[in-house]
Formats: sequence, C-alpha cells, structure tokens
Amino acid sequence: MNRPVDRWDLPLGLDAGSEPLFRRISRSIVEEIRRGRLRPGARLPGSRTLANTLRVHRNTVLAAYEELAGEGWTESTPARGTFVSGALPEVRRRAAPAGPSRPAPEAVGFDLRSAAARDACGSGSVAPLLSLGVPDVRLAPVMPLARAFRRVLRDRPEDLLSYGHPQGHPRLRAALAGMLRTARGLAVETDDVLVTSGSQMALELAARTLLKAGDVVAIEHIGYRHAWQVFEQHGATLAPIPVDAAGLDTGALEALTERTALRAVYVTPHHQYPTTATLSAARRIALLELARRKRFAVIEDDYDHEFHYEGRPVLPMASTDRAGIVLYIGSLAKVLAPGVRLGYVTAPRPVLRQMVAHRACIERQGEHTIECAVAELFEQGELQRHARRARRVYHARRDFLVRALRRELGSALSFEPPCGGLTLWATVGDGLDVEAWASRLREQGATLFTARHYAYDGRVRPHFRLGFAPFDERELGTWVRLLKRTLRGASPGG
Ligand SMILES: Cc1ncc(COP(=O)(O)O)c(C=O)c1O
Repeated sequence: MNRPVDRWDLPLGLDAGSEPLFRRISRSIVEEIRRGRLRPGARLPGSRTLANTLRVHRNTVLAAYEELAGEGWTESTPARGTFVSGALPEVRRRAAPAGPSRPAPEAVGFDLRSAAARDACGSGSVAPLLSLGVPDVRLAPVMPLARAFRRVLRDRPEDLLSYGHPQGHPRLRAALAGMLRTARGLAVETDDVLVTSGSQMALELAARTLLKAGDVVAIEHIGYRHAWQVFEQHGATLAPIPVDAAGLDTGALEALTERTALRAVYVTPHHQYPTTATLSAARRIALLELARRKRFAVIEDDYDHEFHYEGRPVLPMASTDRAGIVLYIGSLAKVLAPGVRLGYVTAPRPVLRQMVAHRACIERQGEHTIECAVAELFEQGELQRHARRARRVYHARRDFLVRALRRELGSALSFEPPCGGLTLWATVGDGLDVEAWASRLREQGATLFTARHYAYDGRVRPHFRLGFAPFDERELGTWVRLLKRTLRGASPGG
C-alpha cells in the first residue's frame, strides 16, 4: 500500500533509557501503533530514511525492524517495504492501552467559552435539498477556468507564487471594479475593492471592523443566519425587523432607532433572502436617509445580483450612497460557483483599509492564482457570457417550476414568480400544515426548508423555499410530483 501519506518522514520520540537503542526504537514504534498513529497496513519508512531522520546507524534501525517483525507487529515484502501488520487482532487485544484510546483528546483542559448560539454551518447531509439557492454547477465554465488557471500560472509564476497583497490580486480587483462601475453604477476604482474568500469572509471582516460587544445590529426577521452568526460571535445583539413584499420594513426600523442606538443594519435589498422581495425605491431612500441621520452602517449583501428576470436589475443602494455609510458585499458564488471561494467588498476607504488589515490577520492573502484566472475570464468576457447563458437557463427553469406548481398543486400554494434570484418563496393554503408536509417529504428522502428555518424567532409560518436553478426540467418535474404526493400528509385528516 504505497499511499503517499506513508512516504513522510517518521519522527519518533525516543525515551532516554538503559535499553539498547534499537529496542527503544522498536518500543517507540509499537507505542505509535497502539496509539493509532501507525495503522494496520501503513508503510514504515525505509531503514535508511528512518536512520537519517533519527540520526542513528542504519543497522540500528534494521535491528529494530527485525524485532518488530519477529513479534508480529510488522510484515516485510521484498522490494516493497515494511508495513504495520494488517492482521493484529490478538496483538491489539493484548496491547490495548490503558485509558482512552482516542488519539486526540475529547476533553478540554481549560475553559472553552460557550459555543456560538446558532449552528449556522450545520446544513450537513440533507440532500437532496429542494430549497437550495445555488447555481447549477454543471453549467459552470469549467474548461475556460481550467485553461485560464494553467495560462496565468505558466505566464506569471513569480508573481503568483510569491506573497501578494491581502486586498486581492490587482487584476481581479480591476476587473471587479470595472464590473461594479458598468453594471452596478458604483463609482469605484481598483483600490476600492477588497477580494475576499466568499462573501462570508466579507461579513466577518465587516463585523470585526464595525462591532464591539453589546452593539445592536438590525437584521431581516426572516433572513440569512450565516450573517447573524457572525454578528453574534462578535457580541452583537440582533434586532429582527419585519420583512414584507417590499422588503425590510423601514418604518419598523425607524421606530427601533427611536428607542435604541443602532450600529448597523444587515440587509439583502436586491432579492431579499429568502423571500426574494426587492426593497422598494421609497424604502431604499428612507433607509439611506435614516442611516445618515442616525449614523449607523448599512451592510448591503447583493449575493445574486446577476440573476434578475423581470426588467433591469435594481442598482445597489451603494450606488447612491453619498454619506459613506454603505458596505457593499458581493459574491461570485452564484455567477461562477460556490466552491470557488471569491467574494468582494467595497466600502468607504477608511473602512476598507481596516477590513484589509483584518483580512491579513485571518489569512495573509487570498489564492492569487485562482483570482488571476477569474480575472482573465472577466477580461475575455467569458464570465459575462456565462452569466447571460445561466440567466436564460434559470429563467426558463423558473417558468417551468411556476407552471408545474400551478398545474399540480393549484390552490395548495400561492406565490409570486420571483423577479430574480435562484429560488421561489411559496405560501401554503389555509388549513395546510407546512411542517407536516416537510416531514412527509423527509420520509421520502427529500429536504424542504420551511420559513421556520429562516426565521430569527424560529416560529412556524406557512411558507417554504424552493430552489429551481440547480435542477433541470426533469428533476424539477420529479420534485413537483413528490410535493404533490406528499401533500396529503399536510392536509387536515390527511
Ligand atoms: C444572503 C447570502 N449572502 C451571501 C451568499 C454567498 O455566500 P458566499 O459568497 O460566502 O458563498 C449567499 C449564498 O447562498 C446568500 O444566500
């Protein structure tokens, strides 16, 4: 079993002792086998290599290996090497160490501060997840990306393999700044953009820059718990604000600011997460004006700007910010792929400088090779072409899902076809139990996130989210039929 992992040097701690050196080596290896560091089948280093590592004579290692083989701990295969015996049953029983046998301690020997309040990262194994708001990575421009990666690395190895700037590779910052100016109306230059490892890192940097324990952050009461988790970890108190068909209720926000000093509001104005409502023009103006007057920051998360189907995308609030209050966060997770961890922020310059400094503490810099490769996709127009193609596909999938739901589920569901985003927010009919429906689906092996999953208060509400982007028409048809089949479980007496 010549697994590469077995080719590492094997440093061993050798006790001082009166025993001959070869025996101390063989005892030490036995101890590592007992601890589980060396597993059955693992390859031991060649005698010459181990002798070099331990700075002993090779004959000493050969003597140790001979003893191990003689006791049945190892087996040697000519020309292949020495391996921990694959058949150690009675040896293991005899050798079972006293006390816990886990290699890494479970107990903590100091006070671990209490874990974060919310398990935001626990989406775990819930596939197939009908509520996924992700793109269809089967459509991603894999070959152009691979070619660009190869090209930039071949052409610029010294630039890309050395330390670079924590703000991100200038080539990608320039491409993003160009996109933000042209497509989103932001008056930004290359230096106004910070590239992050996904927008999640941008949220973390915003929190580090803005928050101290006890600060109040207003959030959408049905919203994005991955952002809430970050703010809570920085000691913020969250103030949930209602959301309706026109997005965040700025009247309620204003009422809150009469009672409480706000440090920031976190908002998803383009396609509210998860309802997809677009924040109305009047509320945008009201929010910016309120923030200016009360001096709090607006964290604008524009995570899926590219995917807007009805009319033109609405320009970000950041594009009209003259007061220096908006931190604008975007992501390439939807337009390229979530596994390519690229996000970006632009903010008033002093804020951005601090965010860059924090970023350098978390991670010296990003992956400049991938940043450059993606910059090349922008420069060649490849990413823009991909975005247009993907938008057409998702638009068609949205329409397919809307038709299928209306045909198959009729009055059991009501919804507005989402004007943008990758998901649809549905309301179940009177008398239907949305949680019972979701659990019937779970019995059938499918996961549906209901409003409870997105609600700050965790209360049951008669809504759920359906993703359409990652599924083709055949798959969407299957999900809709499954929804219909399980509907009976959600009906009174069903
Ligand atoms: C509200 C919101 N913000 C941001 C993101 C993107 O996060 P990231 O760029 O860290 O993958 C998502 C992805 O689902 C999202 O739903």
